[in-house]
Amino acid sequence: MSDNNKIRRFSAFRIAEHWVFMITFSILVITGLSQKFYSLDLSMWLIFHLGGIDYVRLIHRYTGIIFLIATSMHVITGIIGIAFRRWQPSMVINKKDFSDAVHNIKYYLGMEDHPAICDRYGYRQKFEYWGVLIGSIIMVFSGLILWFPVSVTRFLPGEIIPAAKVLHTNQALLIFAVIALWHIYNSIFSPEIFPLDKGIFTGTISRERMALEHPVELARIENKPVEEILSAHRETERHENSEVN
Ligand code: HEM
Repeated sequence: MSDNNKIRRFSAFRIAEHWVFMITFSILVITGLSQKFYSLDLSMWLIFHLGGIDYVRLIHRYTGIIFLIATSMHVITGIIGIAFRRWQPSMVINKKDFSDAVHNIKYYLGMEDHPAICDRYGYRQKFEYWGVLIGSIIMVFSGLILWFPVSVTRFLPGEIIPAAKVLHTNQALLIFAVIALWHIYNSIFSPEIFPLDKGIFTGTISRERMALEHPVELARIENKPVEEILSAHRETERHENSEVN
């Protein structure tokens, strides 16, 4: 499980899945937003260099199909993995996530002496995950409605088309903002991990980070009480701080 102080956190499947989402999402944002803001110089430059508006629309739609397959696979494998008890439902939001959020606000205000004690995913990661997953499902459905308006209006009222357009185009901005501001901040610019959290590319993180950020999961992996992990980690930190001072 651990090698040279590294703990395996993500499987090869999760690493590959993240690459697929990173690439397809970037292409969808570039080809989608350049259609939405078509009068900007940057959009015109992009559309021209991608071969014209017809190509941009084609690239957007066929990348959308890959995105749809990846999103469906993510949801279906998740449901099967949890139903057959191969995976823990570690992304499910529970009561502790809300109390952890309150605990951390108190910690940042100096009213608690240690941050919230998290399991595999902390409350921030869970809230971000569900925001992006629900947003992606909305993008897939509204995108398909815009792509096949005639087939869709055989079963649903015509108003669904302008509604899908409003949803798709505004949700695009929201999901882009969540990824660009929240996710990129947390995985690149956050002071704890700057210049880059490489975990999702290498599949491993240091034992020290596990003890700090996911002590409950580390305790489970090493079959030790959480208190032992936490007190050992705090002792190391005290030792390092006294050396610096
Ligand atoms: C999460 C990623 C996505 C983003 C950020 C995104 C963004 C956008 C944006 C900004 C537009 C322009 C809307 C306007 O003109 O105001 C657009 C149009 C469109 N999108 Fe998406 N989209 C995404 C995913 C998808 C998916 C998954 C599909 C299909 C399955 C899709 C299909 C379409 C279609 C058909 C249009 C209409 C433009 C055309 O006629 O080609 N999109 N998208």
